[in-house]
Amino acid sequence: MSEPAHLTATRASYDTVAEDYTDLITALFSKEPLGRAMLAAFAELVRSGGGGPVADVGCGPGHVTAHLDALGVSAFGVDLSPAMVAIARRRHPKLRFDVGSMTDLDCVDGELDGLVAWWSIIHTPPDELPALFAEFHRVLAPDGHVLVGFHVGDECLRPERAYGHPVTYAAYRLPPEHIAELLNQAGLRVTAQLLSEGKKCPLACVLARKQI
Ligand SMILES: C[S@@+](CC[C@H](N)C(=O)[O-])C[C@H]1O[C@@H](n2cnc3c(N)ncnc32)[C@H](O)[C@@H]1O
Repeated sequence: MSEPAHLTATRASYDTVAEDYTDLITALFSKEPLGRAMLAAFAELVRSGGGGPVADVGCGPGHVTAHLDALGVSAFGVDLSPAMVAIARRRHPKLRFDVGSMTDLDCVDGELDGLVAWWSIIHTPPDELPALFAEFHRVLAPDGHVLVGFHVGDECLRPERAYGHPVTYAAYRLPPEHIAELLNQAGLRVTAQLLSEGKKCPLACVLARKQI
């Protein structure tokens, strides 16, 4: 069965930008104390439960996976883009990174104590988010935690270039209250939200927990 066109476009775009994206974003990550604070809270919650495994879905070059590992949780990364996964494996050879889609994770039901989607749900068409969050719910253990980060707004951007290269993906800015509602509807009860200023638009992180 052929995959949805948006996955093909997202994969091809990130394969193209992977090296330049990595240089830019890994430098920015060290200057994002608020996002890292949410990741620290997430890691502490996961450690107080089973401690992992945690999936970093749409992991890109793997810096967040490595950050979670350094925070003491057993994390692995999954990304649609083989070029991103190759970079993640090169930069973090002791960690596990798989090529795959967060829409169809290679995990048995209830396998994960946590799941992070850090600026990676932004390429999923909004009408497909309920199915995506149902997949997050499926792979999480009861009481497992999910943390999503995304750009705030209510629009679809179709840039012709990004990170110095041509791209064909769509990127969605999303209303946090709508994301919270969809997570709740999927059985992932929202426990905390952070709104912060960003360079081009506000940024949101939403933390939720799988209801028993
Ligand atoms: C903006 S980047 C974020 C990368 C990384 N999480 C970070 O914080 O820098 C979006 C990433 O999500 C990945 N991605 C988008 N849709 C995906 C999907 N359905 N399954 C897996 N990865 C996906 C892209 O390939 C890309 O690496």
